[in-house]
Amino acid sequence: GHLADTEHFGRKTSSSDVRVISYNETTHPKYVNYTKAGHCMIYSKQNEKMFGLYDTRAAVLMQMRFDGYIGFPGGLIDDGENTVSGVNRELVEEINFDLEKFTIKEEHHVISHVNEKLKLILHFFAIEVPLQDFEEMEKKSLSAHDYGNEVMGIVRIPLYTMGDGFRGFPAFLTNAFAGNSREQLLQSLIQRQIMTKEEIERALEAKAI
Ligand code: GTP
Ligand code: MN
Ligand code: MN
Ligand code: MN
Ligand code: MN
Ligand code: MN
Repeated sequence: GHLADTEHFGRKTSSSDVRVISYNETTHPKYVNYTKAGHCMIYSKQNEKMFGLYDTRAAVLMQMRFDGYIGFPGGLIDDGENTVSGVNRELVEEINFDLEKFTIKEEHHVISHVNEKLKLILHFFAIEVPLQDFEEMEKKSLSAHDYGNEVMGIVRIPLYTMGDGFRGFPAFLTNAFAGNSREQLLQSLIQRQIMTKEEIERALEAKAI
């Protein structure tokens, strides 16, 4: 894949330090001392036209982090903590995730990456929810424990491209992204058939006029 340079814990790393790793392989003893994190894309497919013009495609939840970077809800897995337990815990802390309605399970796994240089494993999950539940989550997220300190706001991603070929999704992609969350977003949009690979490539090539 085309993994761009990324930033972890304020350290810039090159795409060549990162590779895809299977979920099962991450439990190998050689990774026991690695830092592990898990993040999740919560989304809802929708066909509404925005301004009667732009195909909204899906509501996708990301957040403005305390460090000014855009990322997904989720975080560090504690020592000895089960991966999905850690993801669910972080979702409760960061967006007040309702575990009685939804739980992240291994079946929601999308992709994992390992950064050998930083001894870091990044797990990624995605869960589709009905739009009504998505909207409830957005509202509830304002009373999350970490809202206002770790989390400065939640955002819906503009997934359409406007008439000038840049505003909308291409402009959104010029934000600073935590870790490899930009790649996680792009890969999940393709995997969940929200956008085609060609549409993603076009958005990546678009330039502001
Ligand atoms: P604390 O509770 O303050 O320790 O933070 P946290 O546990 O919520 O951890 P955080 O979400 O910041 O994730 C830890 C590291 O993972 C960050 O330093 C980033 O390098 C990276 N990171 C943060 N958000 C994302 C994301 O959406 N995707 C990926 N791949 N990495 C991320
Ligand atoms: Mn976090
Ligand atoms: Mn957190
Ligand atoms: Mn944490
Ligand atoms: Mn925290
Ligand atoms: Mn903390």
